[in-house]
Amino acid sequence: MAQNWTPSSWRQKPIQQVPEFPDKAALAATEAQLATFPPLVFAGEARRLKKQLASVAEGNAFLLQGGDCAESFVEHGADNIRDFFRSFLQMAVVLTYGAQLPVVKVGRIAGQFAKPRSNSHESQDGKTLLTYRGDIVNGTEFTEEARTPDPERQMMAYRQSAATLNLLRAFAMGGYANLENVHKWMLGFVKDSPQGERYRKLADRISETMDFMKAIGITAENQPSLRETDFFTSHEALLLGYEEAFTRVDSTSGDWYATSGHMLWIGDRTRQLDHAHVEYFRGIKNPIGLKCGPSLQADNLIELIDALNPTNEAGRLTLICRFGYDKVADSLPKLIRAVEREGRKVVWSCDPMHGNTITLNSYKTRPFDRILSEVESFFQIHRAEGTHPGGIHIEMTGKDVTECTGGARAVSAGDLQDRYHTHCDPRLNADQALELAFLLAERMKSGRDEKRMVVNG
Ligand code: PEP
Ligand code: CO
Repeated sequence: MAQNWTPSSWRQKPIQQVPEFPDKAALAATEAQLATFPPLVFAGEARRLKKQLASVAEGNAFLLQGGDCAESFVEHGADNIRDFFRSFLQMAVVLTYGAQLPVVKVGRIAGQFAKPRSNSHESQDGKTLLTYRGDIVNGTEFTEEARTPDPERQMMAYRQSAATLNLLRAFAMGGYANLENVHKWMLGFVKDSPQGERYRKLADRISETMDFMKAIGITAENQPSLRETDFFTSHEALLLGYEEAFTRVDSTSGDWYATSGHMLWIGDRTRQLDHAHVEYFRGIKNPIGLKCGPSLQADNLIELIDALNPTNEAGRLTLICRFGYDKVADSLPKLIRAVEREGRKVVWSCDPMHGNTITLNSYKTRPFDRILSEVESFFQIHRAEGTHPGGIHIEMTGKDVTECTGGARAVSAGDLQDRYHTHCDPRLNADQALELAFLLAERMKSGRDEKRMVVNG
């Protein structure tokens, strides 16, 4: 167990990105009540995910992590969850085929509510208010009342997370995730996509593989793995009072686990070594993520790994790299070399979203080409360094929104106003997300073919 650590030891450390709750007594009462509520996930599940991530760290699996930038209370509905899950599963199937590896599925969902912000205040028409920090803290409306942090929102976030997780578990285990369904949806996408011809080849090969399996008697009826899937939840554990309330001792191992989600990550703005977030994370046994932005130096990364994964356990730590398409070539190799030199076991994942945000027509957006370019560079760099490009981490939705520009249907700057629904950062829409998966799968496949040619001489 981590030394001198308790679920509340983070309170003794400096902290970034905490909201100022005006009513401290109400906040304490809420946290006390949350601590009595049932956990959302249980430790055995977190261990199962850690094992799967260990396999990613060893180069034998691929991680797909994705979902909303920020979940919202008003968008909470079955359709949104279903559409997200459907898009996510299609991506997973395409990537499984491309990588020829199992895909570990982790949603940014059922708890992804708290947001770090670059500015603490926002001004409009001469009026200045606190910034929006996610529905678990305050509201988006530009009024004093909405922007005042309200602890009651943590109750809502908990209940929404529980309901979302319940539906996801039903989808994952109740037949909705059946591979034949997912395959059918994918063929629908290929048929309708302006780039359909390009994707058809890969889709046809998946179809052939499925037909072959059926022919030899492997079907969803007799193979649970064809009708069920593991699906895990994750979020940025920013609001530590909330997290503390859900930090519980696992009766099997006697270890502390965060039970608000299977995997938690530390944001790029809160990864200071001697601060509260790193302190909290070092004591929980869940698999965790660490966002790595351009300001992270190699020696600092090694210190963070020492603090967060002192036993060098594979699967414990995922480094989620978010440099920007134009900075990745400069930033990533140094970090990979330091980690390799020190013999640290990590999962390398690429978040091609957060370093590629620009403003167009006063909308925050991300050009699809830059997202693709960062992922491609990430793959190339790992190939050159001889390390495993373990996964991707994306912001996406199952809906047809217009938040990121580009893609086969070419969302333009002028289209952004049509269906710009995000509560925080711009997400890939359903088509863009699946397109990204197809383009990556194509490249992974050609990378494998190249390797095979080299081996066979
Ligand atoms: C996020 O993942 O939504 C986020 C805020 O990321 P980062 O910490 O990398 O900026
Ligand atoms: Co975001």
